[in-house]
Amino acid sequence: MNNIKVPFGTMTVTDEAKRLLNEIIGSGFLSSGKYVRQFEKEFARLIGTKEAVAVSSGTDADTLALAVLYDYGAKRGDEVIVPALSFVATGNAVLHAGFTPIFVDVELDSLNIDPDKIEAAITERTLAIMPVHLMGKPAEMDKIMALAKKHDLYVVEDAAEAHGSVYKGKNVGTIGDMAAYSLYVAHMISTVEGGIITTDDPEYAEILRSLRSHGRSCNCNSCVLNMGDKSCEKRFRNSLDMRFVFERVGYSSKMNELEAAIGLGNIKAWPEHLGKRKANLQRMMDKFAAFAPHLLTFRIESYEEIGPHAFPIIIGKDASFSRDEFVDHLQERGIDSRNLFLSMPTQCPGFAYLGKKIGEFPVAEHLGNNGLHIGIHQDLGFEQIDYVIEVIEEFLKNK
Ligand SMILES: Cc1ncc(COP(=O)(O)O)c(C=O)c1O
Repeated sequence: MNNIKVPFGTMTVTDEAKRLLNEIIGSGFLSSGKYVRQFEKEFARLIGTKEAVAVSSGTDADTLALAVLYDYGAKRGDEVIVPALSFVATGNAVLHAGFTPIFVDVELDSLNIDPDKIEAAITERTLAIMPVHLMGKPAEMDKIMALAKKHDLYVVEDAAEAHGSVYKGKNVGTIGDMAAYSLYVAHMISTVEGGIITTDDPEYAEILRSLRSHGRSCNCNSCVLNMGDKSCEKRFRNSLDMRFVFERVGYSSKMNELEAAIGLGNIKAWPEHLGKRKANLQRMMDKFAAFAPHLLTFRIESYEEIGPHAFPIIIGKDASFSRDEFVDHLQERGIDSRNLFLSMPTQCPGFAYLGKKIGEFPVAEHLGNNGLHIGIHQDLGFEQIDYVIEVIEEFLKNK
């Protein structure tokens, strides 16, 4: 047996990032400051929004984006529509923000929320729709935005896996009111742990900066950005210490300078990384089509570009083998994989209290039982992609 390995994820720390890390450690100023601000500016430029606000995880990015809506009249317990299948953080974030997740089934060939099932889930309490662009495949944003307009709802994109995705000429992350990204290891731009919210609305950005810093009221460089050499000018006005006036129920969710330095390095490397991921995806798609109907993957539309997070594989309905058999075959040959998440309401015990029953989300449940995803990242070359294809061919030969 050869010794080719196909790891699921990768983490790049560039030489530029290493230089910055040393500089930051030497300076002694490690908590959120000028490099976080620089990272925000560069990330906003990359996605094409006016603002980006960095936080400590993708889950917090989802949560804080939703929590902004309290400033616009949202009430605790209001409903947020999310796909039934996603990484569990999507559903958790709705709860962390104090809202109620309303799950809608997904489509088998897009893996994303079924746009034709959303309207039936809208009630008087619906506040927002949070579509997920799973695996970097854009959700059907035209239909989602039209529904949001019709019913006066906010749209927060969960773009945790969709850096670099494009929908009908628009960058994912610029379409809804806000978009939340994960910067966790193996995501396309990583700060090790981290998240970031993009938006064109400076008021949302200001609220986000308050929320990530305990709900602080003052938005000056000193109070929420830890920048500038002056302390807050308003600080001790009216016998109040403004730094300790908290206007909203906030979070402790800041990014630090070390994380930002790693992120800045990854932004520089981004064009090269994205190019490699896209080339890997294309090569995999071209060869994978021959495995239908035993093994399926998502469909790519002519009007979209996928920022490839990972490569999804779904065991066909009539296949003569189980996912476990297939995964074992890959694992024994050095190919790492992960399950393709679960139906949050019916396959994740944490949501059992909602009282949803198996069978209510048939597509999400099918994917939960039969889906997996494998790496397609910048540290894989065509040799490894072709190896994956060979290993699968060998598996299917006897089926
Ligand atoms: C779709 C989705 N949403 C949210 C998250 C949460 O991101 P984090 O792990 O950075 O908290 C992830 C993480 O992988 C994700 O895939």
